[in-house]
Amino acid sequence: MRHLVANVATYTIAALLILGSALFAWMRTAQLVLTDEHAALARYEPAPAHEFEWRELGEHAYVRNCQNCHGQEGKGWDQYPGLTDTARLFAAPGGREYLVELHLHGLTSPRWGAPMPDMAHLQDVELAAVLNHVLTHFGNTPPSGTRLYVPEDIAALRGPKRSPWEVNELRPGGDARAAGRSAPPRQGQGARGP
Ligand code: HEC
Repeated sequence: MRHLVANVATYTIAALLILGSALFAWMRTAQLVLTDEHAALARYEPAPAHEFEWRELGEHAYVRNCQNCHGQEGKGWDQYPGLTDTARLFAAPGGREYLVELHLHGLTSPRWGAPMPDMAHLQDVELAAVLNHVLTHFGNTPPSGTRLYVPEDIAALRGPKRSPWEVNELRPGGDARAAGRSAPPRQGQGARGP
C-alpha cells in the first residue's frame, strides 16, 4: 500500500511538471508571436487615422530602410541626397503625392548619380510612418496645420507601376526638362487627386 501511494505521488508530480513546462512553453510562444514584426505591424492597420502611432515605427523603418543611403542624420553622402529639404517638397503643390510615389516606384533624376530604389515592399503603415519621421526630423518642420501621412494615403496611391523617370516629372519644381531628358508620357492612369 505504501508503495502504491508513493508511486501515485511520484507520477502525479511528474505529470504536473510536464504539464507546467508545456504551459510555460505555450505562453512563451504566444509572447514571441506578439513581438514578431508582422504581428506588430498588423496592430497598426485597423487604427483610425487620428490614432496612427507612427513615431516608433517610423524611426525603426528609417534605420532599417533608409539610413544606409541617406545617413543617420539625414545629411546624405556621396551620391545620396540629404533629406533636409523634404518638408519644403511636401508643402509644395503635388509634393505630398511625389514623396509617396518615389517610394512606391523609385526615383531616377539627373540630379544625383544613383537612383533611389523603390520601397514598394514596405507596408502602407511603414511608408506612412517613415515619411512622417523624415518630415519631423533632420531639420524638417511640416507646415503647421498640415495633416501628416496615414496608411490610407499610401494605399490610395498604390497602382500600376511607373518608371522612376516618370516619378521625377512629378517632383515639385521638377527640372527633368532642363536637363534635356524627359520621361515617356503616362498612359492609362486616369485622373489623379490634387
Ligand atoms: C540605395 C540607396 C537609397 C535608399 C536605401 C533610400 N534612398 Fe532615398 N534616395 C536615394 C537616391 C540616390 C536619391 C536621389 C535619386 C535621384 O534624384 O536620382 C534618393 C531620393 C530620395 C528622396 C527625394 C529627394 C528629392 O530631393 O527629391 C527622398 C524624400 C528619399 N530619397 C527618402 C528616402 C527614404 C525615406 C528612404 C527609406 C524608406 C530612402 N530614401 C531609401 C537613395 C536611397
